[in-house]
Amino acid sequence: MVKEMRFDFNPLSLYKNNKHSHVFVKFAVSLLLLGIAFRLFVSDSITFSFVAETREAENRISMEDIKAESPVALLPIQQAVSGDFQANETQIPIKDSAKCDLFTGDWIPDPSGPTYSNVTCLAIEDHQNCMRNGRPDSGYLYWRWNPRDCQLPRFSPERFLDLMRNKSWAFIGDSISRNHVQSLLCILNQVDQAVEVYHDEEYKSKRWHFPSHNFTLSVIWTPFLLKAEVFEDINGISSSEIQLHLDELDTKWTEQYTNFDYVVIAGGKWFLKTAIYLENNTIQGCHYCPGKNLTELGFDYAYRKALQLVLSFITGSEHKAFVFFRTTTPDHFENGEWFSGGTCNRTIPFKEGEVEMRDVDSVMRDVELEEFEKAAAIGAEMGVILKLLDTTRLSLLRPDGHPGPYRQFHPFAKDKNAEVQNDCLHWCLPGPIDAWNDLVMKMILNDQTKR
Ligand SMILES: *[C@@H]1O[C@H](CO)[C@@H](O)[C@H](O)[C@H]1NC(C)=O
Ligand SMILES: *[C@@H]1O[C@H](CO)[C@@H](O)[C@H](O)[C@H]1NC(C)=O
Ligand SMILES: *[C@@H]1O[C@H](CO)[C@@H](O)[C@H](O)[C@H]1NC(C)=O
Ligand SMILES: *[C@@H]1O[C@H](CO)[C@@H](O)[C@H](O)[C@H]1NC(C)=O
Ligand SMILES: *[C@@H]1O[C@H](CO)[C@@H](O)[C@H](O)[C@H]1NC(C)=O
Ligand SMILES: *[C@@H]1O[C@H](CO)[C@@H](O)[C@H](O)[C@H]1NC(C)=O
Ligand SMILES: *[C@@H]1O[C@H](CO)[C@@H](O)[C@H](O)[C@H]1NC(C)=O
Repeated sequence: MVKEMRFDFNPLSLYKNNKHSHVFVKFAVSLLLLGIAFRLFVSDSITFSFVAETREAENRISMEDIKAESPVALLPIQQAVSGDFQANETQIPIKDSAKCDLFTGDWIPDPSGPTYSNVTCLAIEDHQNCMRNGRPDSGYLYWRWNPRDCQLPRFSPERFLDLMRNKSWAFIGDSISRNHVQSLLCILNQVDQAVEVYHDEEYKSKRWHFPSHNFTLSVIWTPFLLKAEVFEDINGISSSEIQLHLDELDTKWTEQYTNFDYVVIAGGKWFLKTAIYLENNTIQGCHYCPGKNLTELGFDYAYRKALQLVLSFITGSEHKAFVFFRTTTPDHFENGEWFSGGTCNRTIPFKEGEVEMRDVDSVMRDVELEEFEKAAAIGAEMGVILKLLDTTRLSLLRPDGHPGPYRQFHPFAKDKNAEVQNDCLHWCLPGPIDAWNDLVMKMILNDQTKR
């Protein structure tokens, strides 16, 4: 039974081959223990890296520290959602926006808090609805991303919708892209109610229309961006290895591509899974497939091929979209991994230098940056606007922004010491991922001022 369950990928297999059997045993045991809850979690989520990176005890922080460090941590939510949060773009000198690196900076306290809540937004996925699910602390809501050399105004839903009249957007990728689109929906819903006009059978790809602005927003579920045969049932139980075609894009997104004026596209953690790699319909090798007598090519080989194909499709398309290429998202499991009781109970951000990116995220991001550089140069010649949405490092600083145990509804209601699966990868809504949209907005406005 356990052998049938193949989310047993090892992202670090290239680097730490000796870990395989140990990790697999841990994995199998915890799988049996966690049972159904575990499977539900994995089914709809991207999966997590294996090798624990246990941080030192002195890095841990208590509730008292939070109160001391974050003057705004205890502000009531109501105050936050009723305020006026419109960005005032005219305050920002255009000169400073032009050259500023939006992705280098700090998280600073922000008493104004989020612009929406679990009450004003109905689009929040249950597993990310930390408020509804009873997360006790709210300090994580009172921070904003502050780029070192310029100001990042709050996303202005009015301004955005005005600019996007008759336009169409798509978020293309995995469950992190869905997390991102839900943040945008919640922000926009304050101004115009979205009408869901399409969903696929599994409710993974969706489309919404904002009638008063004729704005269309889509999310397209394609975790590899490539053609892939995935043999997972609805609970994420796999009956066979994923067959990944490294030379064919997933038509699910390419066929619709010309409909979109703006695209936010991202790859990510699905590439860490066990997979057989094919090119020209011929097996070339695999990633993490012991006992198969296939060449281990490494996830980075596949990821690079995938991004090359994706980006050359974009730069080579007759259709000139405005494309954001988002970098990978780090997770924050501590004292274990997603499958072995890892948790993320921090309640304030890290400061720059307090945390290091894991090997697996570094490898992914390096591939991303290299392939993006090459593509952006070609894109510039072809008249395609290709922007890097480099959220990796700023997200790395937010271990406090994940649902943790509060992916379930009131997980400790019956038993204070209940063992629950933690989610230290997706983001609470509202939460730090809302800043990704502030960045998107800023990048659009920067582009507008250039025209
Ligand atoms: C966080 O979890 C660790 C164990 O994983 C525990 O020792 C620590 O007390 C927890 N901190 C808080 C603030 O709950
Ligand atoms: C924006 O800021 C400018 C300069 O500080 C001010 O003159 C203007 O009234 C503000 N606009 C709004 C809508 O707050
Ligand atoms: C929203 O969250 C609060 C706790 O922050 C909770 O009391 C309330 O029931 C939630 N409402 C909805 C509609 O989820
Ligand atoms: C939106 O489309 C309608 C109908 O095609 C057109 O009348 C209107 O001018 C368009 N608005 C913008 C801002 O493009
Ligand atoms: C809505 O926008 C689309 C383009 O995305 C345009 O073809 C259509 O005419 C617009 N409809 C209205 C009612 O403005
Ligand atoms: C792909 O495979 C076909 C046969 O299945 C072969 O004729 C063709 O040369 C191969 N192409 C490449 C680029 O290897
Ligand atoms: C592994 O594959 C190679 C080449 O395809 C073959 O020569 C070898 O016999 C295989 N080994 C086993 C144990 O199947």
